[in-house]
Amino acid sequence: MTTPTIELKPSASPLSDAEREAILASPGFGRHFTDHMVTIKWTEGRGWHDGQLVPYAPLSLDPATMVLHYAQEIFEGLKAYRQPDGSVASFRPDMNAKRFQASARRLGMPELPVETFIEACDVLVQQDASWVPAHGGEESLYLRPFMIATEVGLGVKPANEYLFLVIASPAGAYFPGGVKPVSIWLSEDRVRAVPGGMGDAKTGGNYAASLLAQAEAAEKGCAQVAYLDAVEHKWVEELGGMNLYFVYGNKIITPALTGSLLAGVTRDSLLSVARDLGYESEEGRVSIDQWQADTENGTLTEVFACGTAAVITPVGTVKRSSAEWQHSGGEPGEVTLKLREALLDIQRGIGEDKHGWMHPL
Ligand code: COI
Repeated sequence: MTTPTIELKPSASPLSDAEREAILASPGFGRHFTDHMVTIKWTEGRGWHDGQLVPYAPLSLDPATMVLHYAQEIFEGLKAYRQPDGSVASFRPDMNAKRFQASARRLGMPELPVETFIEACDVLVQQDASWVPAHGGEESLYLRPFMIATEVGLGVKPANEYLFLVIASPAGAYFPGGVKPVSIWLSEDRVRAVPGGMGDAKTGGNYAASLLAQAEAAEKGCAQVAYLDAVEHKWVEELGGMNLYFVYGNKIITPALTGSLLAGVTRDSLLSVARDLGYESEEGRVSIDQWQADTENGTLTEVFACGTAAVITPVGTVKRSSAEWQHSGGEPGEVTLKLREALLDIQRGIGEDKHGWMHPL
């Protein structure tokens, strides 16, 4: 595999410093984008080529471009944080790069070398460093690497041309309420992914498949949907855009990777952070009935969602067709908050990075 060198073709920001600062003061999530983007092409027979950092701009695509019809697309999400000394570091970009390769394999797309993925993220953050929010808060620069099939044609087959891009967006809390607990609708009929499908790939199709249930959840007054396995409709898998953790006193349990849920980087990190804090952590199976019964008998003490965008968000109210219950009296639980603080401290450079997760730029 060839590794392209990324050619820098920057231009002056279209925004004034004051305009950028106003956005950074209250960035929201995924609403604003930085001044540049990285693009790298892949062509059959030639491999990766024409890596460039260019001004952020719309793409021009032929209406018959394959991704628009057959959804051959994958993406990633990772964050860069301002450190106490003013420098910037990203969190575990190697994990995202490897998962991007796994997603590419699943969708019949070419694998971008890990070092090229990291270089692409690095050059964008370095160029647009003024967009990384200040140290101290929870804000960060969210990076969105993605790849689309760009061959033009309507035959259903893996494309022979692709475009890889990285864009960046200053990010505050994913949920408007921040650390306020989110409400969950437990979907007992609609599934997100099936065994042998692509539930463990980070591809837009999985998110599209979740939108109807998400709209139904909103009608029931819930912010997110928890999906069950597609065979027995019994085992809790994930929330569609984030993983789940169940807190049993001193032990945290997350659904094991069965192939139909995403291997979240935050999920993986928390298995270690929890142990560092003296908790037990494990991957396991939790059924929907167990979720309800263990809440009622008091052994299941807290539940939280986790992901790059969501960080760690407590789960409050849970609704299923036959019942409704609440965790931690609708307040963030103690273990949830401790884990959240410990992880954010590592990311913000004020906690010891004993696993070597931070990637300085
Ligand atoms: C992330 O946490 O980075 C995600 O991709 C979840 C969502 C914003 C799609």
